[in-house]
Amino acid sequence: MIDKKGRKINYLRVSLTDRCNLRCTYCMPEEGIIKKSHDDILHFKDILKVIKAASNLGVKKVRFTGGEPLIVKGVDELIYETSKIQGINDISLTTNGILLSDKIHDLKRAGLNRVNISLDTLDKDKYKAITRGGELNKVLDAIDKCQELGIKSIKINAVLIKGFNDNEIESFIKLTKESTIHVRFIELMPIGEGVKFFNDSFISSKEIINRYPQLIPVEREEFGTAELFKLKDGKGRIGFINPLSCKFCVECNRIRLTSEGGIKPCLHSAEEYNIKKYLNNEAIMTKELENIIYNKPLEHHLGEDKLSGSKKMMFQIGG
Ligand code: 5AD
Ligand code: SF4
Repeated sequence: MIDKKGRKINYLRVSLTDRCNLRCTYCMPEEGIIKKSHDDILHFKDILKVIKAASNLGVKKVRFTGGEPLIVKGVDELIYETSKIQGINDISLTTNGILLSDKIHDLKRAGLNRVNISLDTLDKDKYKAITRGGELNKVLDAIDKCQELGIKSIKINAVLIKGFNDNEIESFIKLTKESTIHVRFIELMPIGEGVKFFNDSFISSKEIINRYPQLIPVEREEFGTAELFKLKDGKGRIGFINPLSCKFCVECNRIRLTSEGGIKPCLHSAEEYNIKKYLNNEAIMTKELENIIYNKPLEHHLGEDKLSGSKKMMFQIGG
């Protein structure tokens, strides 16, 4: 459907949990998070109701995210049920990749079209450090497996962190040379634990783009949030997502569902509407959702405020 500002909203991101099997320093506090009780979390059948209501309003794309969605059991079933909802024609997943290698086969069979894997370094010791204990090999195996299985779109998302991975940009870029893997660099955002890192570690996409003249600009995808480039003869694309230096709010086509049943019409706004109370009535749920979408905030103020307006952290909302 079209919101008040004329934006076509057709994309729902669903966070299945705010738990994660990693503790990336810029995302999660070391001690972890307060665990939500099972009753506070939407069950798959409830999530499917929200997706159905969203599809009534023209949502066609669904992304499952977290925290880490693959620590939830049965994501393949959820994907399969989602694929049966009329109107939904694209199902994707954002994962840290740790558990992906064993599951990707079933996920694909269930109807998963695209995978985004969060990976900030290609060095195993640095990976262990930034994720506070993660094993890089598992992620690299998962990427290989996705390729073997012919997953149509495999994207690696790396958060740009000055002094940590800005010396690895070239290695990331090279991944797009031989295979159709896409790499996207994401500017560090002042949200969650990222607030503490922001001043010292923020590096803009622009600075990186200027450093690599071998990047050839290509046309942006429709509704894509990334500024896109490729290497000469490269198979994959290299994208830059600039939530701060270049806002994509005017083209934003998405809304989010938290694992507790909150609809967030904008990632960086405190606005959140609990729609749990409408789970038993599809018509009312659709109507409420329509209202929320219609009034989606125009834009965020990250660039000016240097702070997200969201009361939630990234692991509670999902990438
Ligand atoms: N800035 C940018 N990206 C972040 N993520 C988590 N915290 C931040 C932050 N402060 C990203 C992760 C992952 C997704 C879950 O959110 O890298 O891709
Ligand atoms: Fe987990 Fe992703 Fe946050 Fe890392 S960035 S702790 S993988 S949710």
